[in-house]
Amino acid sequence: MKVILAEHCGFCYGVKRAVELACVCGKNAAAGQAQTLGPIIHNPQMVERLVRQGVGVAGSLEDIPAGGTVIIRSHGVGPSTYAAAEEKGLELVDATCPHVRKAQQAGRQLAGEGYQVIVIGERQHPEVKSIVAWSGEQTIVIESVQEAEKLAFFTRIGVVVQTTFAGALFQAIIAVLRTKCDEIKVNRTICNATELRQKAAMELAGKVEVMLVVGGKNSSNTTKLARLAEASGCRTYHVETAQELRQHWFNNIDVVGVTAGASTPDWLIEEVMEKMQEFEQEMQETVTKIEKGSIVTGKVIAVHKDEVFV
Ligand code: F3S
Repeated sequence: MKVILAEHCGFCYGVKRAVELACVCGKNAAAGQAQTLGPIIHNPQMVERLVRQGVGVAGSLEDIPAGGTVIIRSHGVGPSTYAAAEEKGLELVDATCPHVRKAQQAGRQLAGEGYQVIVIGERQHPEVKSIVAWSGEQTIVIESVQEAEKLAFFTRIGVVVQTTFAGALFQAIIAVLRTKCDEIKVNRTICNATELRQKAAMELAGKVEVMLVVGGKNSSNTTKLARLAEASGCRTYHVETAQELRQHWFNNIDVVGVTAGASTPDWLIEEVMEKMQEFEQEMQETVTKIEKGSIVTGKVIAVHKDEVFV
């Protein structure tokens, strides 16, 4: 059985940077003093590991003791959070992804220049909320072509887009927005990390018999990878850890593809790869035993395309 890892998978630049900053805080801060504002990434195993290293998760600034450290995650926050942290005397470690920061600044600049700011993205996503917070109260968020079609007419529209938004849908929305104003200024603030991972996952799904997608079940980018792999017709399993893998998934399978979302740490991917190696070894040992005439108990053991009944 051959196991192929997708060309682009796992931590993106912004998430890697945020997790590294959090780890440094865990080493330097006194126990219970460093906390991320919300889970640093959508990966329960990584969040738990950080908690063990002394970095907790705060629901709000109120939860962090005075003199403590607040870590801003890669999605960013609005200006009022910076002000509130300063007022409370908290040390602030800013892990906002530089791509998100660029989108926030673009929104603020467009608003300052008098454009009607439109943010294309998922309304409830923390990154979109942070861009809106920088762009001002008048900002409009749209998620779909239908929503764009319902917009009123504006003289000048300035557009910012969620960094992880799908490129094709973005273009379709922009085409509608062009009919809704006299002048449009578009900031294509999409980051290519998501696109690269999706493209690589689909390419790999086209070449293998089973796809494993590793990452948080609460991670939208990981879930999207699993949906894309499945949609390409490949049997797909979304797992958070190697412990969820089942050997019978690989009966009669020659080639398996592995990918992981932008919020999946390398160590979880490595554990899955190691488990697959273990499965392969166990399968080979079983076949050897059968060939040597040893007694093996069990139901059906299948290796590659040849089923062996014992
Ligand atoms: Fe940043 Fe792109 Fe990752 S915006 S957090 S590098 S997906």
